[in-house]
Amino acid sequence: MARSIRFFELNTGAKIPSVGLGTWQSDPGLVGQAVAAAVKIGYRHVDCAQVYGNEKEIGLVLKKLFEDGVVKREDLWITSKLWCVDHAPEDVPVALDRTLRDLQLDYVDLYLIHWPVRMKKGSVGFNPENFTPTDIPSTWKAMEALYDSGKARAIGVSNFSTKKLGDLLDVARVPPAVNQVECHPSWQQAKLREFCKSKGVHLSGYSPLGSPGTTWLKSDVLKHPVLIMIADKLGKTPAQVALRWALQMGHGVLPKSTHEERIKENFDVFDWSIPDDLFTKFSEIEQARLLRGSSFAHETLSQYKTLEELWDGEL
Ligand code: A2P
Repeated sequence: MARSIRFFELNTGAKIPSVGLGTWQSDPGLVGQAVAAAVKIGYRHVDCAQVYGNEKEIGLVLKKLFEDGVVKREDLWITSKLWCVDHAPEDVPVALDRTLRDLQLDYVDLYLIHWPVRMKKGSVGFNPENFTPTDIPSTWKAMEALYDSGKARAIGVSNFSTKKLGDLLDVARVPPAVNQVECHPSWQQAKLREFCKSKGVHLSGYSPLGSPGTTWLKSDVLKHPVLIMIADKLGKTPAQVALRWALQMGHGVLPKSTHEERIKENFDVFDWSIPDDLFTKFSEIEQARLLRGSSFAHETLSQYKTLEELWDGEL
């Protein structure tokens, strides 16, 4: 019988459900029904962010799910993220309060600094004029205060390179519990994964399917011959193989879908496993970061002149 890998334990002692529903690019009008379907299927983890622009709709659905007794708050894991315009220490608690109001919750299970990038307060969009230098240690102190208050039961970061995570660990009183980053068979994060493991930081994988619906990415992760071959051999879909690979590698996944049959498919990854002889084939897959964060690097206006600097060479 395969090990089911339904949870991973964080450095706070909390158990984070290994498969969460992603909500990035889930359109208003669709995200609510996707969350409701997922919870009814058995998902106990929803990954949100203020900048996704859909937390209010998710909040309405969560309220109904609690009222109808479908799930209890304490059995659900909700993550949200601090957007780049709210990095000033005094803005951090205000941003979380806004998210809590939108989600109609008293606390989130995990609150992340969304990017190691700061933009001017109140600015909108990715105009390079909006950039202003980060001060991660002071933003992190404000995150630690949220952790102390109990409004964020765990805190962490997203899109941090190995170097940026290391710099934060050097100054943190409360170490980050999670680094949420792009991770899938075509971008396996070998270096960051090792570092996270050595420091007890959980790696959480966004775009675990390679975001095939994102037209500007031209992703073909699910079409890779290795995934297709393994899927054929095991009688699974390439998406299920990509997700199961992640669980066996030891990191969580946040597949996004607004289609019920896919939401179901993506959760059917617990009672089977990829045998060792097939698992080794993943090391043959050529590696490339898909989500390069090009909007965050700018020759003169960003603290990151190049993508090399944004990712500290991990490209
Ligand atoms: P949709 O929401 O229309 O179902 P990622 O989580 O890597 O960002 O990928 C999300 C994208 O993958 C979305 O475009 C989603 O489309 C699509 N998707 C989700 N689940 C599956 C699946 N099981 N098979 C193929 N595509 C999927």
